[in-house]
Amino acid sequence: MLNQGECIDNVTGPLGNPSEIKNYGKVLCVGGSVMIAPLLLQAKAMKEAGNKVTTVLGARTKEFIMMENEAKALSEKVYVATDDGTKGYKGLDFLKDLLQKEKFDRCVVMGPVIMMKDVSEITKPYNIPTVVTLTPIMIDGMGMCGVCRVTVDGKMLFGCVDGPEFDGHKTDFDELILRQRTMLPEERLSSVLSEMSGGCKCGRNQA
Ligand code: FES
Repeated sequence: MLNQGECIDNVTGPLGNPSEIKNYGKVLCVGGSVMIAPLLLQAKAMKEAGNKVTTVLGARTKEFIMMENEAKALSEKVYVATDDGTKGYKGLDFLKDLLQKEKFDRCVVMGPVIMMKDVSEITKPYNIPTVVTLTPIMIDGMGMCGVCRVTVDGKMLFGCVDGPEFDGHKTDFDELILRQRTMLPEERLSSVLSEMSGGCKCGRNQA
């Protein structure tokens, strides 16, 4: 959206901790909507480390399934699921059948909080270590403001400095979902104001 000669105001990073990439064996990578893009970077790194990768691409509806060819290029198998069933499986319940048939040594999930919660609940009975990437609301991103607090294994941690990756079986997703809603009225107002001022679809206020 920038013109030649313009610049981005500030960039800070990288923040947080790097992903743990090792040869685990068989890795199940599950990504939702826009988080499919970073998930595939991790799937690629897992493959390069010697893992066999199975990838699940999920989205609300078929228009939001992306990078399927890229996923196929680096995965042994690719499954697609949509909430409304317009492409692939309807919902993620098929994972229960998959886990009964196949053994996985690790699961990586990136996507909406509710999706990470659901997948973590599905993998828990199978004791598959499950890593979720949490993106709570952040302000400074450096451990000073405390806005990004998450509860993991009963401990208060910061998404920005202790994460972004956490154990999905120990994350308090219900608390995170509540915290993610803190700014909902302001987000809605901002979206309406953006529409009124001819803002673009991404929500950036052009006024
Ligand atoms: S964003 Fe402020 S402490 Fe994490």
